[in-house]
Amino acid sequence: MKHHIFSSLSLLLLILQISTLAQAQTAIAPAPSGPTNITKILEKAGQFTTLIRLMKVTQVGDQINTQLNNSNQGMTVFAPTDNAFSNLKSGTINSLSAQQQVQLVQFHVLPNFISMTQFQTVSNPLRTQAGDASPGDFPLNVTTSGNQVNVSTGVDDATVANTIYTDGQLALYQVDKVLQPLSIFAAPAPATAPAPATLKSKRKSPAALSPSSGSDDSPADASGAELSIAMHGMTVLVIGVSLFVFWL
Ligand SMILES: *[C@@H]1O[C@H](CO)[C@@H](O)[C@H](O)[C@H]1NC(C)=O
Ligand SMILES: *[C@@H]1O[C@H](CO)[C@@H](O)[C@H](O)[C@H]1NC(C)=O
Ligand SMILES: *[C@@H]1O[C@H](CO)[C@@H](O)[C@H](O)[C@H]1NC(C)=O
Ligand SMILES: *[C@@H]1O[C@H](CO)[C@@H](O)[C@H](O)[C@H]1NC(C)=O
Repeated sequence: MKHHIFSSLSLLLLILQISTLAQAQTAIAPAPSGPTNITKILEKAGQFTTLIRLMKVTQVGDQINTQLNNSNQGMTVFAPTDNAFSNLKSGTINSLSAQQQVQLVQFHVLPNFISMTQFQTVSNPLRTQAGDASPGDFPLNVTTSGNQVNVSTGVDDATVANTIYTDGQLALYQVDKVLQPLSIFAAPAPATAPAPATLKSKRKSPAALSPSSGSDDSPADASGAELSIAMHGMTVLVIGVSLFVFWL
């Protein structure tokens, strides 16, 4: 009896090990090299999950990749950290319309390559991908002092914390604040009657960001479920086999 239990236990352990090994192997996919992929660079840098998600929903990430591949002007991107996004008043991003979300991300992108030293000689206001830099629209000013670079929008001021990536084509800088354009974040007019309704419907828009909106979770869940069904089947089989052996 003890012997049978022991052998079915070791068989179960063996099956467990094989399953774990199989899962581990499917999890590691070879990284393809090719054109510059800003998402991949941000993923590698860590602490930019909100920006990555926003770049995905608004498709600005794809626009940046395409533009980098198809022109030699280069690009400059200010990347606010997850911490910077969480310092915004809660619900700020979700209360923006889909178009405003696109503009917000584009406001962090300049249509040419600017190195840290070149910031000292740029003329204000800078033009961003969000459009018109005239007062009230999307002006962005840069001020420098030695190696320090500050960015001001007329709503808030951010400091460039460090260079995440630079290759002469793409310059990616970490900033400590979300750059808030005047056009979207200028002091709002007093609330009128229809305002709450608009806000509510916007919150329900498919572009709304929530931690659960990532489709990345589903494949893992599915394979997890499959695995547990398979494991269950194996356990039943093992018990069946050991009972059979026991009765022989
Ligand atoms: C860029 O990288 C991300 C994350 O690594 C990946 O999901 C995406 O498919 C890549 N895009 C291209 C065009 O290779
Ligand atoms: C990059 O540009 C080349 C040549 O212009 C083009 O053939 C290729 O499809 C582009 N790749 C991407 C991912 O846009
Ligand atoms: C940049 O901003 C920081 C913090 O607000 C401030 O202490 C510093 O003097 C600013 N530097 C420049 C060059 O504007
Ligand atoms: C940006 O710079 C321009 C030109 O120097 C100036 O007129 C404008 O007031 C500045 N705006 C902000 C928000 O600093």
